[in-house]
Amino acid sequence: MVKLVLSASLVLFAAITALAVPSPAPAAMAQGKKADPTKDLYVSNCQMCHGPDGVSPIKDMSFVGRQWKTTTTAEAVKVITNGVPGTVMLPFENKLKKEQITALARYVRALDTPQARKKK
Ligand code: HEC
Repeated sequence: MVKLVLSASLVLFAAITALAVPSPAPAAMAQGKKADPTKDLYVSNCQMCHGPDGVSPIKDMSFVGRQWKTTTTAEAVKVITNGVPGTVMLPFENKLKKEQITALARYVRALDTPQARKKK
């Protein structure tokens, strides 16, 4: 009986340690690609609406081939910072740092290239 309890707690210990060990390098690094922190931010905060690489099936949310409402990076920064009232575009002012928002504004504007439009 003691032995059984001991081995059960060993299994539990192993499971806990497995959870505590940080996961291996992100897939991008494993593939030898350079990690892009802005892309990571995009994937975790924006992709669920704006789609992978800015291509969303919902026209209003697609960055590629978009009828952009903002025309400059500064305006895009404002939208990301303050959101668009009355839409699901929420403010990221309290979630992201200023530099991160600026980087994201550049990043999403750069997704809308003629090549990307052709592929769409
Ligand atoms: C919950 C869904 C959702 C999320 C998450 C989201 N957006 Fe948006 N976003 C929208 C919608 C909807 C619009 C269009 C608003 C409108 O009609 O003006 C928009 C508009 C924008 C625009 C303005 C585009 C233009 O036409 O000029 C930018 C820039 C933008 N989003 C960037 C981001 C970034 C960067 C993130 C992540 C930090 C993000 N969004 C996260 C839904 C979302």
